[in-house]
Amino acid sequence: MIGLGLAALGRPEYLNIRLGTSIDKSEASYKENAFKVLDAAYSNGVRFFDTAPSYGKGEFFLKDWQATRSYADTVLSTKWGYTYVANWELGFSSAHEVKEHSLSKLIEQWDTSKILLPNLKVYQIHSATFESGVLENIEVLKKLSEIKAATGLKIGLTVSGKNQKEVIKAALEIKVNDLSLFDSFQVTYNVFEQDTADILKEVHVAGKFIIIKEGLANGRVFLPSTAQEILQQLASKYKVGIDAIALRFCIDSIPSTIVLSGASDSQQLEENLKALTFKLTEDEMKLLKSCKVDAATYWKERSDLSWN
Ligand SMILES: NC(=O)c1ccc[n+]([C@@H]2O[C@H](COP(=O)([O-])OP(=O)(O)OC[C@H]3O[C@@H](n4cnc5c(N)ncnc54)[C@H](OP(=O)(O)O)[C@@H]3O)[C@@H](O)[C@H]2O)c1
Repeated sequence: MIGLGLAALGRPEYLNIRLGTSIDKSEASYKENAFKVLDAAYSNGVRFFDTAPSYGKGEFFLKDWQATRSYADTVLSTKWGYTYVANWELGFSSAHEVKEHSLSKLIEQWDTSKILLPNLKVYQIHSATFESGVLENIEVLKKLSEIKAATGLKIGLTVSGKNQKEVIKAALEIKVNDLSLFDSFQVTYNVFEQDTADILKEVHVAGKFIIIKEGLANGRVFLPSTAQEILQQLASKYKVGIDAIALRFCIDSIPSTIVLSGASDSQQLEENLKALTFKLTEDEMKLLKSCKVDAATYWKERSDLSWN
């Protein structure tokens, strides 16, 4: 299944490989575009939508869209732990989002994010790492468990970085009041970064919910590489774009997953959704699996991307 992420829709600049594209970056124009993409997604069968407070106006655009459309069958997910600080300032010179995994940040952001209820179904720690200490912060874990008990939300986490699988493994062990806390895992997985393939099988067997993000490696699948040549050959065979092959690879790799499209406009979304029109053969999957790079190299390249 394909879901839609709002990272590229709710703020004027995001990490990507885009060069010199000129678009209207006003908030009004972004809101209009976000609604267009959300409408196109819904009319093409997409029901899962992922956002975060750090995606600029992402949560508000999603809330306003949901309120005006009143769809009963959408499933929304959001996160806590990063604050958007660029304040729609183009070319903002430092980090556009600031991480803070404290109890006070959880309380503050939950107070805003709960406006997405009742369609909000998944609430995630945004980029859980060992370094932030969030998985050992008893107060935070207890608060998440309280939110879960009060709302029935799936509590989840998102992971990024070269030790994604170790963080997932640690999270699987966490219990509050003898009950496993985390029900949902949002993970970077794509033709280059396949480090979590085995642990995600365990996550699936444990009955947890899996969401794949960055299926196009933030657009790096389009850049010249051996992987790009293979993707292009398959794209010609299935008469789709490279993006659809790369997303299909994620769908066919991980059982019962939601793969997020990070489309920044309706045309990209339409291209991404072509991933649902075919299935890769075992040999094609083998070929694409051979494109993986080691996690340290992948995440070094990811950290070199700029905000555009
Ligand atoms: N830590 C976290 O929790 C975290 C981190 C990252 C993402 N996410 C979630 O995952 C979602 C998807 O991730 P992502 O957007 O970072 O990664 P992605 O899907 O790997 O890349 C999306 C980018 O690929 C480009 N693209 C997509 N379709 C295209 C097409 N047909 N032709 C040309 N370019 C195309 C667009 O770049 P341009 O905009 O430059 O055109 C788009 O912004 C996000 O929206 C968010 O919900 C979560």
